[in-house]
Amino acid sequence: MEPTKLLVAIFTLLVLVAHSAAETHFLFWNVETTNITHNCFSANVTTVNGQIPGPTVEINEGDTVVINVTNNANYEISIHWHGIFQFLTNWADGPAHITQCPLNIGSSQIYEFTVTGQSGTFFWHAHNNWLRATMYGHFIVHPAAAPPFGEVAAEYSIISGEWFSQDPNVVELGFIDTLNPVENATVANTINGEPGPLYGCPADTQIFPVTSGSTYLLRLTNAGLNNDHFFKVANHTLTVVRADGNYLQPFDTDVVVITPGQTTDVLLTANQPIGSYYGGVNVAEVPNVGAPPPSTPALVIIQYEGSNSTDSPVTPEFPSMFNLMPVDNYTSFLKGLEPYSLPETVDVELVYVAGIASVNCNASEPCTTKIAGTIQNSTFDDPQNTSVLEAYYNNIPGVFTTDVPDLPPVFEDFTSQPDRNYILGNRGTRTRVLQFNDVVQLVLQNVNAFGILDHPFHLHGHDFYVVGRNYTNFNPDVDPAGFNLVDPPKFNTISIPNGGWVALRFQANNPGVWLLHCHFERHKTWGMEMAFITENGSGANETLPGPLHPPPSCT
Ligand code: C2O
Ligand code: CU
Repeated sequence: MEPTKLLVAIFTLLVLVAHSAAETHFLFWNVETTNITHNCFSANVTTVNGQIPGPTVEINEGDTVVINVTNNANYEISIHWHGIFQFLTNWADGPAHITQCPLNIGSSQIYEFTVTGQSGTFFWHAHNNWLRATMYGHFIVHPAAAPPFGEVAAEYSIISGEWFSQDPNVVELGFIDTLNPVENATVANTINGEPGPLYGCPADTQIFPVTSGSTYLLRLTNAGLNNDHFFKVANHTLTVVRADGNYLQPFDTDVVVITPGQTTDVLLTANQPIGSYYGGVNVAEVPNVGAPPPSTPALVIIQYEGSNSTDSPVTPEFPSMFNLMPVDNYTSFLKGLEPYSLPETVDVELVYVAGIASVNCNASEPCTTKIAGTIQNSTFDDPQNTSVLEAYYNNIPGVFTTDVPDLPPVFEDFTSQPDRNYILGNRGTRTRVLQFNDVVQLVLQNVNAFGILDHPFHLHGHDFYVVGRNYTNFNPDVDPAGFNLVDPPKFNTISIPNGGWVALRFQANNPGVWLLHCHFERHKTWGMEMAFITENGSGANETLPGPLHPPPSCT
């Protein structure tokens, strides 16, 4: 080989090695109380490092993170890495009372885990009480292989959420131990933590510069507590390429629908006349009941190079929040880029009925009956003195039961009128045990007990294929024949349609305790959750090891 060729070969090899060498990222996060003024309201809120959104974690696929979290705030906290599999690191997953006790004030905890076999846009958020409202940030994993959608000129992070006029944990108090929850705060939609320019209170508007002809990757995440969001950019078509860290068959749309807990990556090509365009979020898909959600969009400016910055930007027109059509249109385009790849045989068939109902209060609660979120007619009570994972791992009896029924007692009309069988639920800390590698088919059926609305369900530790969805009562004899087992999209969060069902398939390939819950914080607060416990397998890498770092003490 000629010397120059040899040098090129060595250099190429070095670059390859540099690229493939996994790194470990050491991060130090300080959870604190921060005074923030937005939308003309000041509130003391809980933040990571004083920022909303909090710090972005940005790593390459295969890297390890070691995040040392110190709680200097006024509340116990915990942090969840939403969408990250936590393969064999269930202890680092974070949901309070499920995989750890919440972190006491004044204490520290180390979350250590490696991200393998997944890439894209994820996020982290607090996973106790309503602290997620102000404790969230992006978790970006760059793929080992170049993405199919090609190079982009730049990437922009856009996280939507809500701003409450007071401490969100105080807002939560209006929602618990009562049959009649009260929204005791003014709520604004936010984008990257800011309500944006339309609220009539002085606010900074974030500007994203673009150059005519270039294409940009927008990483969209709905970190909001209680509302689905539409995302739009005035006059621009968006190309959807990835959701929840999984590539989709690309499609064009002028509006993106994102539920709390979902991430969606879209391409924006600057192909309109040079100028400024507003882009942002407004509330999507709300039932025509209850207090109206905030209806003012939260916007940023997409500003073309060479545009006159004194021109007022073009404003997008959002679809009506009461119209389900845009949601359905959008959903019908979601197809996976990779073909369906689970084993053919389904080992476990589950149909879970989920809805808002009531339960009787405990002796310690200041009520007789209260509003509840139920799955299989049962509301989930958090264990208080140990987490479910600690109880499972250490064989501590009496903490949880394993009796979530696989099917509803009868397949009835769950949706067209209030279903009397589901109005008063029962309570428990119920789980469903899965054997390692079980292929699970889980149909989530909406029930109309106290009204009806969609429920964005999130499964920890796994992605699932969305193989079916309809606005009907699920019929186990008929509907599975229509499932898409060719190119279904993969998500970690998906809405049970308003008055319908959604069918998921996943493989229980990750030993540990994995929460399934509605990602509307109100509903989770009301107990719309359960946990799967995946037992150890017998092969290598099929046994859950103990925690890498001591979990927070439970007292
Ligand atoms: Cu994004 Cu269990 O949470
Ligand atoms: Cu819900």
